[in-house]
Amino acid sequence: MSEIIVTDRDGGVHRVTAREGVSLMETLREFDWGVAAICGGMCSCATCHVYVAEPWVDRLPPMQGDEKEILQELESYRPRGSRLSCQIPFEEALAGIEVEVAPDE
Ligand code: FES
Repeated sequence: MSEIIVTDRDGGVHRVTAREGVSLMETLREFDWGVAAICGGMCSCATCHVYVAEPWVDRLPPMQGDEKEILQELESYRPRGSRLSCQIPFEEALAGIEVEVAPDE
């Protein structure tokens, strides 16, 4: 069990415990911060879009083609930082990661 730091859409900052072995999305959708995760982690809805804080961007597994394509279609896409949280498996090495929930689209 490790903490992550989440900024919600209202700018509120929260420290929450993430579960290892499941995606970051699985933790985020337990809260009322707008991570709907409609597709359930199938990399097709983009409702789990987050911005990953700069120091963590290069520590994540690289994006696969589908993830990048979906993100690039969003108005809120940022070339650095945008990720689908369902595609980020959470592990101990990511303890302390900071993410911001991206705007609803
Ligand atoms: S939960 Fe749908 S793309 Fe991540």
